[in-house]
Amino acid sequence: MLRIFINYRRQDSEGYAGRLFDHLLHHLEREQVFIDVDDIPAGADFVDALEKAVATCDVLLAVIGPQWATITDESGARRIQQWNDFVRIEIASALRLGKFVVPVLVGRAPMPAPGDLPDDLQALARRNAIALGHHSFARDVEKLVTAIKEAVPANESFKPRPNSETLRQKDEALRAVRAEVINAQASPLYACRMENGYFPVFGEGNADANLMFIGEAPGKNEGRQGRPFIGPSGSVLDDMLAGINLKRADVFVTNLLLDCPPTKREPTPEEIAFYVPFVDRIIDIIQPAVIAPLGRFATSYILKKLGLSEHKGKIGELHGRLIRAAMPYGDIHIVPLYHPAVVLYSASQKELLRKDFDKLKVFV
Ligand code: URA
Repeated sequence: MLRIFINYRRQDSEGYAGRLFDHLLHHLEREQVFIDVDDIPAGADFVDALEKAVATCDVLLAVIGPQWATITDESGARRIQQWNDFVRIEIASALRLGKFVVPVLVGRAPMPAPGDLPDDLQALARRNAIALGHHSFARDVEKLVTAIKEAVPANESFKPRPNSETLRQKDEALRAVRAEVINAQASPLYACRMENGYFPVFGEGNADANLMFIGEAPGKNEGRQGRPFIGPSGSVLDDMLAGINLKRADVFVTNLLLDCPPTKREPTPEEIAFYVPFVDRIIDIIQPAVIAPLGRFATSYILKKLGLSEHKGKIGELHGRLIRAAMPYGDIHIVPLYHPAVVLYSASQKELLRKDFDKLKVFV
């Protein structure tokens, strides 16, 4: 059962939080929504009590009103910066426990800037916020509930912080697949690799990433160095990742083809058929919660592989959609994106690509 925790600051947004609670009950059962942590017995550790309450929920809604970040105590110190602030303790616990955290802006409050947040709340600044308008409250809450219901099944499969043993095993498993790609003499691109002195481009990044990108095929730059997306398309990818506060090392980036074709052209069906079993094994090892195929070839492969061919359509229609899919290791989301190279051909596409990348924010 989906459980939602409403976190709010009394002096800042009590009325809004109550209104949100009432509206959520139009969509959910009473026992699914928690608004106040009562009954902390005398002498109990209140940090422990708040953390336990947050731990029982799947989602934390952080209601942020106009004074959320600035309210001070009697000594003039900002409450959000204090270690014993209930609002801070609850949000920090939810972030640490990998809960689905949504900033809910009320009273026309802006999203707090990272500089206004203590260290343990920095990740809040990266969460996509939803604003509840005075006149559109019911509609906005409905949108919020839909977003939560769409996101939470995949979020449940989010992995806890990797421990070093998991990472070691995954790195080792990836190295074994990489060795097979290096020796893949049967590949239709093996001769081209040898003639040009290219390296195979296996992919790189976090072996336990939640977010995996699959491009089309390495170009010459990539073939010369054996690393994905290091040319102009790679600069666009880095720019988009930075826009959602991510670095390459946080995600895993690979391609549908793991060798560079002889000329800049579309991948052939034979090449795709040869490399996708390797790509499938990479996915199985990493077990990402979100796969973002870049461009039409990777999108069409991933949707077909996951039995989602009903989502047929051009990348122009599919880009930026959150498509739920079942993997043997749990539910995930597929988020098709335009290939970063679109920005090189048409600068106006940059904003569109950025907006689509913003949709990945809820998963990071
Ligand atoms: N384009 C891709 O699809 N992959 C790369 O690695 C580089 C450019």
